[in-house]
Amino acid sequence: MKKISILFLFLALFFTVKATDNKTIRISTNETDLILKVGDNGRLYQAYFGEKLLNPADVNLFSWEVSRGSDGSAVRRGWDVMSGNGNEDFYEPAVSVLHNDGNPSTILKYVSHTESAVDGGTQFVITLQDDVYPLTVKMYYVAYTDENIFKSWTEISHKEKKPVTLQQYASSMLYFSALSYYLTEFSSDWGKEVQMASQQLLPGKKVIDTKLGSRANMMMDPFFEVGFDAPVQELQGTVLMGTLGWTGNFRFTFEVDNVGNLRVISGINPYASNYELAPNTVFKTPEFIFTLSYNGTSQGSRNYHDWARNYSLKDGMGDRMTLLNNWENTYFDFDEAKLVSLMEGAKELGVDMFLLDDGWFGNGDHARNGDHAGLGDWEVNRAKLPGGISALTKAAGEAGVKFGIWIEPEMVNPKSDLYQKHPEWAIENPNRETHYYRNQLVLDLSNPEVQDYVYGVVDNILSNNPDVAYFKWDCNSPITNIYSPYLGKRQSQLYIDHCRGLYNVLERVKENYPDTPMMLCSGGGARCDFEALKYFTEFWCSDNTEPVERCYIQWGFSQFFPIKSMSAHVTEWNRKASIKFRTDVASMCKLGFDIDLEDLSPDELAYCQQAIQNWNRLKPAILDGDLYRLVSPYETNHMAVVEVTKDKNKAVLFSYDLHPRYAEKVVPVRLQGLDPTRQYLVEEINLMPGRKSDFKANGKTYSGDYLMKVGLDTFTAKDMNSRVIEITAE
Ligand code: DGJ
Repeated sequence: MKKISILFLFLALFFTVKATDNKTIRISTNETDLILKVGDNGRLYQAYFGEKLLNPADVNLFSWEVSRGSDGSAVRRGWDVMSGNGNEDFYEPAVSVLHNDGNPSTILKYVSHTESAVDGGTQFVITLQDDVYPLTVKMYYVAYTDENIFKSWTEISHKEKKPVTLQQYASSMLYFSALSYYLTEFSSDWGKEVQMASQQLLPGKKVIDTKLGSRANMMMDPFFEVGFDAPVQELQGTVLMGTLGWTGNFRFTFEVDNVGNLRVISGINPYASNYELAPNTVFKTPEFIFTLSYNGTSQGSRNYHDWARNYSLKDGMGDRMTLLNNWENTYFDFDEAKLVSLMEGAKELGVDMFLLDDGWFGNGDHARNGDHAGLGDWEVNRAKLPGGISALTKAAGEAGVKFGIWIEPEMVNPKSDLYQKHPEWAIENPNRETHYYRNQLVLDLSNPEVQDYVYGVVDNILSNNPDVAYFKWDCNSPITNIYSPYLGKRQSQLYIDHCRGLYNVLERVKENYPDTPMMLCSGGGARCDFEALKYFTEFWCSDNTEPVERCYIQWGFSQFFPIKSMSAHVTEWNRKASIKFRTDVASMCKLGFDIDLEDLSPDELAYCQQAIQNWNRLKPAILDGDLYRLVSPYETNHMAVVEVTKDKNKAVLFSYDLHPRYAEKVVPVRLQGLDPTRQYLVEEINLMPGRKSDFKANGKTYSGDYLMKVGLDTFTAKDMNSRVIEITAE
């Protein structure tokens, strides 16, 4: 008995000594600390995630343990950074692996970690190992110092004899302790992208996910915001903002546990996606990109915008071209002469590029004269365009504009030469009725032969026509009949391998054509994630260009994506809105046009020409400045944003009256981001020819302090009215 007590005493002492030696990993930006600690049991726990601590010594004050007993008693448990299936935690795991012997448990222990400098920040690689099975999970964290952005992902590998089955494989698991949590989510559909809605998170789970395969964000978007102790606000409060860089099915799980703590698990949606992982191969999960802002979403958005421009978005620091697109003007009905006249119109308008949309390819029975045929046959339609693409690039050169072209290379119409030749390249269920979305099927990108073919679409166009200056890459269908003729018995890998196949193609495009800008499009804005945007300079936010609706869409996407990545075109949706209002709404983002210029009066054309010149002049503020959302369309019948150059010398205020109520109360728009100590000249621009500004502050000078504390009376009671105000430091 005595011997046993001595043994216990010895063990207790041993663990006490070890406990004081618990390894601490501090992952920091300028604003935030994520502190991880190794517990006495060797597991890695989240000890702190919040505002940066001033005193380095304070980092050691944290315990790895959290109180989790329902009676408040301290139970020796922590917040596992990669909680595994079968541990003593009773909630959703982040990782779950079925081993060779049929055991489905995973418990990971800390082995080692490294820390190294990377562009813009610090990367940590933490190796975790299951102590019973030869399974390794490497956790990657990158902390971007100035932008206050974190990225995390994992690499899973093993040395078991046969493949293991990955059942859950999150990129990140985070924990929070607050009195209440409020989620802002972004739901979508065609023409209704990024609709923001908030709700309190109560005990239990809230899941945001999609199962669409391709066109993956059509119904829910892969980003969210969580407010702590209060709903998310623009300028106040602590907010977590997160997004997954994955162009396929994603899942965010928000779970409030028995003691009111919140867990957030982010990653690929494991739905119908058990993944067989062979020994000594690596399964890499996508990047989860997150920030904590202590001053509301306004600051959080700027964190993302700066980070994306500096380190992530394709050509993030580069210029962007204005354009004239022909989609809504001609749809499928055009010929060479028509396109040449549009190119000349583009030049007269003053944009940089003419963009030829859908309908230029397919021949004979498979001519692309509507959306029923032709996808897959990327040969020029000889009846419409006898001179081929080269005649078009030549004509564009003569007109003095660049030439861009639309493709949808991941898709096939059953009515196409390609499908006749290679029906096995389409994702289609062999023994069930086929469902079509827009009369088309998704090509099976898990098949390397198909990847070569899709890459070839871009490669053929560019190698034969090096003057093609831009692609609009569309993706109009989700995966409708999930079955891959290529994968055989590994069907449950299709969603993941298909998405990875897309990245293989995009990687080759980027490698061989690094300087060709591309617009990411998916029947509007159904693809918008930061992994895809490593390959695309911009994305098409929505086919809905009705200017009032568009304000909400731009407000929503700007929460995460920099303005220079958000394509916005002036169209004829809602002709009741003036050309000025439509152009002013699009001018807040990456400006383009998709209208019949012949419908414009001389004054309207002159107005557009002037607005394009102004936009070009103000690019340093619009594309590369700081965005401040000032007045929300969700809270008022107006919207206002200001875009300010980094040096605070120039700002552009966009002020929109949407549908004001009769005699409603409006208050001045208070600016942000200016230098309070400097004087600024305030001028209204984008005026219709012959129109004098009726804006009272026009031509006057104010201090930055006044503009930010008192503001400007820019709103009116007029329906669909806008003002663009240029603000220049003296
Ligand atoms: C959907 C896109 O969102 C539109 O802009 C246009 O390119 C059509 N596809 C063409 O089919």
